Amino acid sequence: MGAVITGWGKCRPPLSLTNADLESLVDTDDEWILERTGISARGICHLETTDMAEVAARHALAAAGLAATDLDLIVMATVSPEISCPSNACVLQERLGAVNAGAFDLNAACSGFVYGLSTATSLVSSGVAQRVLLVGVEKLHFLIDYRDRNTCVLFGDGAGAVIIENDPRSGGDAPGVLGVDLGADGVAGSTMVIPTLGTRGELSADRDPAQHRLHFEGQAVFKIAVKGMSESVQRALQRAGLTSDDVDVVVPHQANERIIRAATRRLGVDDDRVVVNIETHGNTSAASVPMALCDAVTDGRISPGDVVVFTAFGGGVTWGSVVLRWGDRVTPITTSDVELPAPTVDVYEVLAENRAFFQPLYD
Ligand code: UT7
Repeated sequence: MGAVITGWGKCRPPLSLTNADLESLVDTDDEWILERTGISARGICHLETTDMAEVAARHALAAAGLAATDLDLIVMATVSPEISCPSNACVLQERLGAVNAGAFDLNAACSGFVYGLSTATSLVSSGVAQRVLLVGVEKLHFLIDYRDRNTCVLFGDGAGAVIIENDPRSGGDAPGVLGVDLGADGVAGSTMVIPTLGTRGELSADRDPAQHRLHFEGQAVFKIAVKGMSESVQRALQRAGLTSDDVDVVVPHQANERIIRAATRRLGVDDDRVVVNIETHGNTSAASVPMALCDAVTDGRISPGDVVVFTAFGGGVTWGSVVLRWGDRVTPITTSDVELPAPTVDVYEVLAENRAFFQPLYD
């Protein structure tokens, strides 16, 4: 039995932080950011993680023609959960009224959606689940120091969601997962760290700004990313008995356009087969792959039966790739007009608390 994607949706928050906005916050400029990263603007969410997840999920459910009560599992990939217990997936289950669904969170940092896709498709193929909602969601701005130009230009908030259902066909050109590669290197874990949001350390009412913010080693991560994604895709293709010539579309993690181009050119996949939406979304960690997928389907870049490759790398260090033959449908069964409530504040007001919190590091 195969597992296919039958619904897709995303939530790109309405507030944008543009490169011009960043010029007024840190010592940077539009040219540097665009040239080094490919990013012009990123979404900043004025609400909570679950609000974005709900919007993306409702679009995905509509595209699949399903009600929330049809779901039997919700998997949520995130490194920025609202709380640690209950899981974000349970909070979303309640919000959606998905009363027949089990729910759990999964953390593989920016690789979270690809790990989740492998997990969810395996559960569907084995008959454990019939209809799974998989969401990648991040409210990263909570973890970023908007006084640090090295990190704050890269990241954005957002959510993407897919519905995975079984397909009775097997063998030959049947849709479903063709090959998977998942990997990790804990030794290199210190290259990307979010030190807080865990039990390590002392009990303290005050968060330490130096410990709270996301830290990464840019150039080390860059190299790990290019090598990690390209080699992971090669292994997944090999397991599928395919080569890069057989690939119709690559949906990579949107960390940096230069990383994406370097990794996919190493694979011998030309640029027009690669989905890139980082210019308007930034790096949204676990949300980036499903948001890019949603754009690709909506823009007509995926056709029935296409070989689609999902690939990502992230904190851990983790990496993963899934090679999947798309099913029959690339148009939504129904659509939803749900969106986040309009903000009553501007992007500077959303970031004001953040900037005040990190100020002591710059005094
Ligand atoms: O979950 C974490 C995921 N992290 C990533 O995906 C990061 C992967 N790495 C990257 O994307 C790139 O390494 C960066 C975009 C972060 C940096 O690009 P780079 O080409 O590696 O630049 P660099 O680190 O070599 O920095 C070059 C210069 C430095 O100045 P000096 O030392 O040469 O005088 C930086 O201080 O650019 C400076 N710089 C900036 N200048 C203007 C760093 N950030 C900025 C900025 N605006 N925002």
